[in-house]
Amino acid sequence: MAEFKQAPAGSSPLTHTTVWLENRFPTAFAAYKVHLSEYYAPKNFNAWYFFGSLALLVLVLQIVTGIFLVMHYKPDAAKAFESVEYIMRDVPWGWLVRYLHSTGASAFFIVVYLHMFRGMIYGSYRKPRELVWIFGVAIFLCLMAEGFFGYLLPWGQMSYWGAQVIINLFAAIPFIGPDLSLLIRGDFVVGDATLNRFFAFHVIAVPLALIGLVVAHLLALHDVGSNNPDGIEIKATTDERGVPLDGIPFHPYLTVHDLIGVGVFLMVFAAIVFFAPEMGGYFLEYNNFIPADPLKTPLHIAPVWYFTPFYSMLRAVTDDMVNVLVGLVGVAGVLAFLLGGFKGIWKWLPLGAAVVLALLLKTFEAKFWGVVVMGVAVMILFGLPWFDRSPVKSIRYRPSWNKLLYAIFVVVFIVLGYLGMKPPSIVGTLLSQGGTLFYFGFFLLMPWWSRIGEFKPVPDRVTFHPH
Ligand code: HEM
Repeated sequence: MAEFKQAPAGSSPLTHTTVWLENRFPTAFAAYKVHLSEYYAPKNFNAWYFFGSLALLVLVLQIVTGIFLVMHYKPDAAKAFESVEYIMRDVPWGWLVRYLHSTGASAFFIVVYLHMFRGMIYGSYRKPRELVWIFGVAIFLCLMAEGFFGYLLPWGQMSYWGAQVIINLFAAIPFIGPDLSLLIRGDFVVGDATLNRFFAFHVIAVPLALIGLVVAHLLALHDVGSNNPDGIEIKATTDERGVPLDGIPFHPYLTVHDLIGVGVFLMVFAAIVFFAPEMGGYFLEYNNFIPADPLKTPLHIAPVWYFTPFYSMLRAVTDDMVNVLVGLVGVAGVLAFLLGGFKGIWKWLPLGAAVVLALLLKTFEAKFWGVVVMGVAVMILFGLPWFDRSPVKSIRYRPSWNKLLYAIFVVVFIVLGYLGMKPPSIVGTLLSQGGTLFYFGFFLLMPWWSRIGEFKPVPDRVTFHPH
C-alpha cells in the first residue's frame, strides 16, 4: 500500500478531509488530475469546442428528466397517452419536466450535429483520433435509436404511425425482412408488445450503451489529446516537463470557458421550453396530441426533423434512381478497370464487382435499396478518417474552395431535412435525389478531392489572440 499522506500541521478542516479522502481513494484524485487539472488542452479552442460539453450537459438533463417522467408514465398501450396528459396537467411541474425532455431531445441532435461538423472542418477524426470519431459515430447511432424508441412512448398518432412506417421498412429486406419486422414489433401490428419493448430499450438498454460509449469517447480523447482549430498537434512542442507549450489545464481555464457556452445554451433552451416547446410542430408534432388510432392513418406521416435528412435519402431511391445508380456503378467499374492499377487477373475484379452490384440493384425492389441507402448514409461516417487524404487537418489551411464545398454540404443536408418533412412531390423527389448523390459523392470522392488544390503553410504553433 502506498504511503499515507499527512496534512501539514495547522491545516484547515477542509485540507484534513481532503487528505483523509485522498489516502482512501487515490484513484479518484489521480483521475481528477489526468482528466481535469493536468489535462492540457489547446489554448486556441473557439466556440465550436462548446458543443462537446453541451452534449454532456444535455445527456445529463435527459437522464434526470427521464427518471422523473418514468415515475408517472405508464408503458401500456391503453394508458400511455393519458399518463402523458396526466404528467402535463396534474403532476406538479410535470409539464416542465416533459417539455425539458422533449426539447432536450431536439437540442441533443442540434448540439451533436454541430459537434460532428466541428470535427469535420478541423479534421478531428484524423490520426491519432480515429477511435474518438468511431466512438462518436456509434454514439450517434445510439442517439438515433434512443430518439426512435422514445418517440413511440407518448402513443400519439405520429408515435404510432411513424413507428409503423419505419418498422415496415425492415420488411423490405430480402429473405429475413418480414420475420425481422415481426421481431421488432413483437406482434403483427404495432401494439402493446411494441410499446413495452421500446420502453425497455429507451429507458435502460440504449442509455446504458450511450453512457458507456461516451466514457470510451472521452477516455480515448484524453489518451491522444484534443485537436484544435489549427489542426496542429500541441504535444509536438513541449517544455522540459513534457507539458505542451500551447496547452492549458482543462480545469479551471476551459471549464470556465465552457461555462460561457452553457450560459448561452441555457438561455436559448429556456426560451424554447417556456415560449415555444412545440417549436411550430418541429420539436413536438401536432398530430401527436391526438391519441394513437390504428384505424385512422394521418394524411401525412413524417419523422421528427432530426431523422428527415436520412428519411429523404430513403425516399429518393425510386426505380429511376436505381437506374441512375446502375449507371454510376458501371462508370465506377470501368474507371477502376482502366485506372485502378490492378495487375493480372485482378484487373477484372472492379468490372466483375460492378456487374454483380448492378444485377443486385435490378433484382431487389427500390424500397429495399432505399433502406440500404439510408443505413449506409450513417455508416459511411465510420470511414471518414480513411477517406480524407488531405495533407493538412484543419479547413483553415486547405484550399479556399473547400470552404464552399463544406457550405454546400451543409445546405444540401438542411434541404434534405426539409424535403423529408414534406409530402413527396416530383420536384422534391428530384431535389432529394440530387442531394443524395451529392452527399454520397462528398464522402466517396473525398480520397480524390481532398488531395487537390493549393494548401496553405501550417504554422508550428497554434494561432491565439488573447482577449
Ligand atoms: C452524447 C454525445 C456526445 C458527447 C457527450 C460528446 C462529448 C465530447 C466531449 C466532451 C469532447 C471534448 C470537448 C470537445 O472537443 O468539444 C468531445 C470531443 C470529440 N467528439 Fe464528441 N461527444 C458526443 C458525440 C460525438 C459524435 C456523434 C461524434 C462524431 C461522430 C463525436 C466526435 C468527437 C471528436 C472527433 C472529438 C475530438 C474533437 C477535437 O479534439 O477536436 N462526438 N466529445
